[in-house]
Amino acid sequence: MKRIIVISTSLRHGSNSDMLADKFVEGAKAAGNDVEKISLSDKSIQFCKGCMGCHKLGRCIINDDVNDIMAKVMEAEVVVWATPIYYYEMCGQMKTLIDRMNAMYGRDYKFRDIYLLTTAADNDPETPKRAETGLGGWIACYPKSHLAGTIFCGGVNEPKAIEGHAKLQEAFEMGKSI
Ligand SMILES: Cc1cc2nc3c(=O)[nH]c(=O)nc-3n(C[C@H](O)[C@H](O)[C@H](O)COP(=O)(O)O)c2cc1C
Repeated sequence: MKRIIVISTSLRHGSNSDMLADKFVEGAKAAGNDVEKISLSDKSIQFCKGCMGCHKLGRCIINDDVNDIMAKVMEAEVVVWATPIYYYEMCGQMKTLIDRMNAMYGRDYKFRDIYLLTTAADNDPETPKRAETGLGGWIACYPKSHLAGTIFCGGVNEPKAIEGHAKLQEAFEMGKSI
């Protein structure tokens, strides 16, 4: 049994990437893992100010929802990110959360396997590559971890357009395989 945190970063109702995340959660739970999903849609997350106060305090100086999320990431063995592709990259709220969790940098952590689930209007397999590279920058700062898997579902633009898509089953299987 592994402790898994799934961070769903889309803020929209009927989010396609959130539906991929839900399927991943279903699979991971079916395999007996301890899974917690967090949606950023009900979270308050400000921008990083770059003050570096986090390196003295071990947490961010800003009192919003980030410190709680970061504590959960630090305890997880598996971290799953779900994001819509915005301008061929991860969405801004995902990047903001990554920046705000800077207090983790230089500290020990338990996560080893990182997964990235993405959705986009464009169906070209190249569409999520910059988001994967961007997340790779975060992973490079935590060298005991690695990108263990990705799922990209293109061709979905409207809310819930992903319904019935084969990628949902793929996400279930990936979650189950952990
Ligand atoms: C600001 C913004 C930027 C977007 N940029 C892209 C893009 O670069 N390529 C693409 O194929 N789709 C793009 N889209 C479409 C979304 O990726 C697509 O609707 C996706 O399914 C949304 O996922 P969600 O439902 O989980 O939010 C963009 C949408 C928005 C709102």
